[in-house]
Amino acid sequence: TSEIDSRFQAALKIIKDASKLAIKMQPAPGKPVAELKGHQNYVTAADKAVETFLVEHLSDLFPNDSFLGEEYGETTVGLFRWIIDPIDGTSNYARGRKRWCISVGLMHGETPVAGIIEAPLLNETFTARLGQGAFLNDKKIHAATTDNIRESMVEIGWSPYVPKGWYPEKMNSLIEQGSMPRSLGSGALALADVACGRSDGYYEYVIFLWDVAAALVILHEAGAYVSPFLKNGGLTQRTPIFASAPLIVNPLSKALGVPLN
Ligand code: IPD
Repeated sequence: TSEIDSRFQAALKIIKDASKLAIKMQPAPGKPVAELKGHQNYVTAADKAVETFLVEHLSDLFPNDSFLGEEYGETTVGLFRWIIDPIDGTSNYARGRKRWCISVGLMHGETPVAGIIEAPLLNETFTARLGQGAFLNDKKIHAATTDNIRESMVEIGWSPYVPKGWYPEKMNSLIEQGSMPRSLGSGALALADVACGRSDGYYEYVIFLWDVAAALVILHEAGAYVSPFLKNGGLTQRTPIFASAPLIVNPLSKALGVPLN
């Protein structure tokens, strides 16, 4: 545990400095300032700079750890692995919006053991360590106690990897079931919202490990349901994710057509 705690404390500090860099580099409101990886798939100079900053500072302190990052891929495999999304919500970031975050997850072997999601312009830091609870700005958080899908608010993720028709179909079935849909552009923050009870669910067709690694620990510690992302292939490939307030897992998964396994 002390190995996890020392890494967690160091990462908290380094992420605060990385945030300053990201804020300084953020484009003003307007047309996205970014390179295109594909249709509506952006990468900004800050994505690269923030990832480099985090990897350099963390590897100085923990030279035997390995790193998996969105922009530069994976370094050699150590027992502790840092999973980094330097800017999650890049499309929001590139247009001068405030809803983006830096997401840093720590895994020990194949187990996520700590997570930090830092949203500097929202003044929010979500944190968790395995067995020690989940927190928003140092206050303990819990998934919502919503027990009726008709009172739920649920976010659906959209990315360029979503096949035509999937997204409106899911939105429609939520509305038909009396739920209130949302779609806000950061998978990590959408999952953090489920963890703290601001929303009752999140579903995305497929997503990468770096978008969710930190959130997996935070959701677990907050008592939310989360689909077995790693078991379903998430360690190595884009994989579906479904998170839910614990009392509506069945009706919500049914409404969204998510197989429960
Ligand atoms: C993306 C965001 C988006 C989600 C995508 C992710 P990025 O991450 O989380 O909300 O729908 O699947 O790839 O590219 O902004 O780090």
